[in-house]
Amino acid sequence: MKPLLDVLCRRLPSRRPVWLMRQAGRYLPEYRALRQQAGSFLDLCYNPEMACEVTMQPLRRFDLDAAILFSDILVVPHAMGLGLSFVENEGPKLSMVNDGASVARLSDGSKADYFKKVWQTVAAVSGELGQSKTLIGFCGGPWTVASYMIEGGSSDRRRALAVAVDNPQWFSELIDRLVDVSVYYLLGQIRAGAEVVQIFDSWAGDVPVADRQRVVIRPIAGIVEGVRKVYPDFPVIVFARGVGDAHGEVALGTGASCVGVEQGVSLGSVLGQLPDGVSVQGNLAPDALLGSAAELERQAHQVLKGVPMRRHVFNLGHGIVPQVNPDQVTALLSVIRSHDEALP
Ligand code: CP3
Repeated sequence: MKPLLDVLCRRLPSRRPVWLMRQAGRYLPEYRALRQQAGSFLDLCYNPEMACEVTMQPLRRFDLDAAILFSDILVVPHAMGLGLSFVENEGPKLSMVNDGASVARLSDGSKADYFKKVWQTVAAVSGELGQSKTLIGFCGGPWTVASYMIEGGSSDRRRALAVAVDNPQWFSELIDRLVDVSVYYLLGQIRAGAEVVQIFDSWAGDVPVADRQRVVIRPIAGIVEGVRKVYPDFPVIVFARGVGDAHGEVALGTGASCVGVEQGVSLGSVLGQLPDGVSVQGNLAPDALLGSAAELERQAHQVLKGVPMRRHVFNLGHGIVPQVNPDQVTALLSVIRSHDEALP
């Protein structure tokens, strides 16, 4: 009955599940209107009623198979006590963590109200979702979140990579704290009604191969383990963006039910490296939604024919960009649906 859950739990789905990263966001006029009403992006994230509405907006327009909680990966460092703001056209600004003492000062996230607001959003969405739709919760991968904490916002991750190599002591303390708090945060989302969680390690591809196990894979495995200690076999999607031919290693090392794959990588070849029953998610290039209808159809078919329905969650290789015309999303969904109907 729920195509996304069916694929993640190794059952044959009634149709190919589809959702899109950043499906709620600035490309939708109704999002921009509510965002303006809320004031700031963070005010929107911490207003359960509005965040629920924003989560539901893409499902009202498009025949998607899942809702993803509307929030942000940087809610975790915010709840751990770091100052956070989103500056228009500049991205996030975060107060910095730059030594062992600043790691020691971080809190466990249980005192601030931020997580509670997000959990209330999850509960509200859970109450509104229809029977065939799946609710996805999420957090960031420890490496990606740590990189924002060390850099004080968006940047080239050079400082964070230097810390990982030159200060392994406090770097690993920071990663361990993030694993614990992320588990606590995800367990609250699951208790409130999340049926799947995705771990977004958006900058995994920046980590040198020699450090990948320590910096990317083992910390994610720690989160997966922590969740499954309480909810055995819980479906988890791991999106280690940019690791290319190492998605098999990520699946094996983390215990993921499904791996998210960036654009430009063949899903068929990733599938060949995965343990039995693990599925793939992705990986249409987000820019395909900016081109002509014919080119969109060609690129979507390329993705669709590379992997069987029962092991595939259709998605983009990264988030939708704000310039996308929502009608292009409608067009994409109709390409996917008619492809599956045409299958023997
Ligand atoms: O629809 C969804 O996918 C759910 C909501 C969601 C957001 N951010 C909303 C958002 C999710 C899952 C995220 C994850 C996130 N946030 C990631 C991992 C995924 C990825 O994109 O790689 C990262 C790295 C962040 C950190 C972040 N948040 C940055 C760097 C920015 C600024 C860049 C930008 O697009 O403006 C954000 C802001 C943000 N998060 C917006 C949204 C809708 C735009 C804020 C606005 O409305 O002005």
